[in-house]
Amino acid sequence: MIAAALVKEPDLVIADEPTTALDATVQAQVLRLLTELQREMGMAVVLVTHDFGVVSQMCSRVVVMYRGRVVEQGSAAEVLTAARHPYARALVASVPRMDDTPGSRLPTVPETVASLMGPLDEEALSDPTLRVPSAGEARSDGPEDTAAGVPGPRAPFGRSPGAADGVGGAEGGAPGIGKGRAGEKTTPLLSARDLTVTFPGRIGRAPLRAVDGVSFDIAPGESFGLVGESGSGKSTISRVLLGLRRPDDGSVVFDGEDITRPTRRRGRAPAIQMVFQDPYGSLNPDRRIGHTIGAPLALHTDLSRTERRERVAALLTEVGLDPALADAYPDELSGGMRQRVGIARALALEPRLLVADEPVSALDVSVQAQVLNLLTELRRSRGLAMLFVSHDLTVVRHMCSRIAVLHQGRIVEVGERDQIMERPVSDHTRALLDAMPALAHHPV
Ligand SMILES: Nc1ncnc2c1ncn2[C@@H]1O[C@H](COP(=O)(O)OP(=O)(O)O)[C@@H](O)[C@H]1O
Ligand SMILES: [Mg+2]
Repeated sequence: MIAAALVKEPDLVIADEPTTALDATVQAQVLRLLTELQREMGMAVVLVTHDFGVVSQMCSRVVVMYRGRVVEQGSAAEVLTAARHPYARALVASVPRMDDTPGSRLPTVPETVASLMGPLDEEALSDPTLRVPSAGEARSDGPEDTAAGVPGPRAPFGRSPGAADGVGGAEGGAPGIGKGRAGEKTTPLLSARDLTVTFPGRIGRAPLRAVDGVSFDIAPGESFGLVGESGSGKSTISRVLLGLRRPDDGSVVFDGEDITRPTRRRGRAPAIQMVFQDPYGSLNPDRRIGHTIGAPLALHTDLSRTERRERVAALLTEVGLDPALADAYPDELSGGMRQRVGIARALALEPRLLVADEPVSALDVSVQAQVLNLLTELRRSRGLAMLFVSHDLTVVRHMCSRIAVLHQGRIVEVGERDQIMERPVSDHTRALLDAMPALAHHPV
């Protein structure tokens, strides 16, 4: 595609999200290629992206758009470190970074029904919740209010140790994170042993071993990260844990019981629940939100209709939504709100382990931070364990205290967050780390 665009030796190339669908290592290659070609051929590049890592690595000037309008423009350095418009500033600040305090609350871009679904007007843009605190003024940091938490100026993107500026009420040693460390003798909540899943090959092709002898433990309350490129087997492992797929080999012991034997589970409320990647596809468009969230309660509890309705209202509140939304349909909600509904549904039966398979990959960066914050808050308040699945190491670093790196169906490395991030032993981990868009600002 790049070659095709360059056949006529253009003066200007417009690259519209050129790497959005690609794995990190491939993205890195494509970006390197674009930079080289740009230098050699002396062409201008307009790079369209939602990814500030890419902007920081590739661009000298940036224009930030909000609902069809340019709200900010300037040099990349200016926009990334000292944006003037509150939206641009909030957007930059909401991106998890390699130098964040893991588990800290990410600053968010306020998401309100009005700002996302109402017509664009100056009122929305001058929304007081988007107000930028002046220098020295304490940031509002209301833990529950999703419309608060507008960030102040942030340190520049970069790995410099001083750049962590305590944004978002950092709570490094917070309870919950770092529980169940390797070496501590906690009985695991979940033990996967030698999981193997083979898919029959297409005609004439060899069978595909999508999961190949995978073993790991998750402690009660622990947030365990599973990271790997697409096709490495992450979703297949998630589906095995959920009982949606039987492994060809191996076992999953949850709370002392082998859950890969389906007969044992019947009649019991599943204590492992899933949050899906696609908040659009995972909700039934014909069912009201309240029905969707209440369905597991109807199936697995003997709560009355009224009691179910009350539980649904409480769940909606817990995930930061107006209980009145129980009567809404999914297409009346934004992506972030739908993902909150997916989380409420997963919480309905009070699971002890939440499997979140790329829960923010389909969301805009501005909404990502809100959903990540919500998952962290819920994990702490409910003492939930979480298997957090992602292809994005920056996000996994932010969310998880222990991380396993998956490559072609095998765990190539598993360890504490800091060991994985700072002293990786596997080449595959190093490749993933190297491929994260440079967060330092290197304008071309
Ligand atoms: N139902 C299926 N039938 C055949 N192959 C599959 C099926 N599901 C997944 N695969 C293959 O198994 C591998 C792992 O897939 P998946 O677990 O979805 O990876 P990930 O979630 O890490 O992207 C991929 O090569 C994928 O094409
Ligand atoms: Mg997947």
